[in-house]
Amino acid sequence: MVVPIAVPIAVPIAVPIAVPIPVQSNRDRPAIVLAAPACEMRSTRPAVSGPAVELGDVTKVYGAGASAVLALDRVLLTVERGEFVCIVGASGCGKSTLLSLVAGLDQPSAGSVQVRGRTALMFQESALLPWRTAVGNVELALKLNGVARAVRRARALELVALVRLSEFADKRPHELSGGMRQRVALARALAQDAEILLMDEPFGALDAITRDVLHDEIERIAAERALTVLFVTHNVREAARLGDRIVLLSSRPGRIVDEFGVPVERPRRIESPEIAGIAASVTVRLREEVRRHAS
Ligand SMILES: Nc1ncnc2c1ncn2[C@@H]1O[C@H](COP(=O)(O)OP(=O)(O)O)[C@@H](O)[C@H]1O
Ligand SMILES: [Mg+2]
Repeated sequence: MVVPIAVPIAVPIAVPIAVPIPVQSNRDRPAIVLAAPACEMRSTRPAVSGPAVELGDVTKVYGAGASAVLALDRVLLTVERGEFVCIVGASGCGKSTLLSLVAGLDQPSAGSVQVRGRTALMFQESALLPWRTAVGNVELALKLNGVARAVRRARALELVALVRLSEFADKRPHELSGGMRQRVALARALAQDAEILLMDEPFGALDAITRDVLHDEIERIAAERALTVLFVTHNVREAARLGDRIVLLSSRPGRIVDEFGVPVERPRRIESPEIAGIAASVTVRLREEVRRHAS
């Protein structure tokens, strides 16, 4: 009998290089502010064509006169349906402003914001109602979304199971860990039947291991539900772990200064050399931006 012997072979690891994508420029596009289309409250989604999000030369100024703050400057961004786009940039560069415009919570000072589909927002703080249980918080979101009482509990339990929290369905927020609370917040966002998930540093307050597990969960759920995700973070590794594409905003005013494709197969590992390589390229670019701003 021939016993195969494992022969160690030095296998070169192909580390993909972040692929810079040329930043678009469209001076010829008309600056029309388009409101996000009103969407019906139903779970059977109508077929809609076109990108999920289109920002056309979006500028946002807070205040007026000498105290005016230019938060975003002619941001041009298209997010395709089902795409996972991470937005990175230094603190104060306009990341949250960008998400609030896409969510329709605020209007741009100039430019167009077009959103095709329902959006749901998720923040660093879970902002759960403390007197409601995990499933009760999700149920409330379903109620606000017009879901009939008879099916609400079952739907809420399904969503709690989706975020792998069934065992803790009847616990109140103070009885849950930070990671669990963010799972409930995710289930609550999904209860809004959104196709576009807007996440503003959602895992920023969690420890590295919990964050790692939640990366796996959001990756799985986004794929299962064919979600479009706009994910804001200042953690470049996290962006490389999650994004199909990383958009880099300059320090104030926020401008898109670079975009990087992430050609790494899923499921991914944050500690993989491929992810580390891409994160390193983005970090170099981000550092340049922060330095430029500081000088
Ligand atoms: N409601 C507001 N009124 C005035 N200035 C604001 C307001 N919201 C944000 N800003 C300013 O706009 C800039 C961008 O803020 P923000 O979008 O929160 O940045 P980031 O999320 O990247 O940290 C900051 O300088 C901030 O101080
Ligand atoms: Mg912010």
